[in-house]
Amino acid sequence: MTAQLNPRGDVAVLVPAAGAGVRLGPGAPKALRLLAGEPLLVHAVRRIAAAPSVHTIVVAAPATEVEAVRAMLAPVAPVAPVTVVPGGAERQESVAAALAAVPAGPEIVLVHDAARALTPPHLVESVAAAVRDGHDAVIPVLPVVDTIKEVDAAERVLGTVDRSALRAVQTPQGFRRSVLIAAHRSAGDALTDDAGLVEKQGIAVTCVPGSELALKITRPFDMALAEHLLTTGA
Ligand code: CTP
Ligand code: MG
Repeated sequence: MTAQLNPRGDVAVLVPAAGAGVRLGPGAPKALRLLAGEPLLVHAVRRIAAAPSVHTIVVAAPATEVEAVRAMLAPVAPVAPVTVVPGGAERQESVAAALAAVPAGPEIVLVHDAARALTPPHLVESVAAAVRDGHDAVIPVLPVVDTIKEVDAAERVLGTVDRSALRAVQTPQGFRRSVLIAAHRSAGDALTDDAGLVEKQGIAVTCVPGSELALKITRPFDMALAEHLLTTGA
């Protein structure tokens, strides 16, 4: 029923949200921690649902929190249908569990960290549009601003890396559905991003401009920054 509200959507968004949030310090799983009074995951999913291309959203929740997550995301469901599945011990397992739950239909699949809770809907649209234009795999990136040094085990500097050739990678990462399925099927060691799996298949990955608002909330400082951004209108 809800899908009729969004008849042109050709995009499924997988939201790995099953992590503990160890680097935030003791507390609830990261996706459930409150940011300006609402769970981080609610902020993330609301922004995804606001992107007009989105047909369906599949969240991989902490295994013990599946029912709680379903309940907190119920208000978003009238905008885009939300399915909640239990995540796994590693991010890659959580993505695989969500991928397995995507209904027939959408041929574009985006993978988007719940931890990037302030990601604007237009970034979801621009990644999806690049896949629609024929790219198999698309990642949003930002230039690297710090000088980067390579060091040895004793923290001695081995050299300075040419920053102009480096990019910091964000999510959502977008894929033709069959490409992501094939990459996950042949996945070996866990990588921190899905495009890494696709690269290993020898498939070209295309960059589009990222957004500073798509920062990954990782440490307490990031929570404070996100809270500030929200209360000042992000
Ligand atoms: N993630 C997941 N399943 C896991 C581990 C991570 O779905 N087993 C998700 C997180 O919920 C997050 C995203 O992957 O949205 C990126 O991971 P990260 O920022 O590292 O989050 P956490 O793993 O929760 O944080 P930490 O590493 O500090 O514990
Ligand atoms: Mg982690």
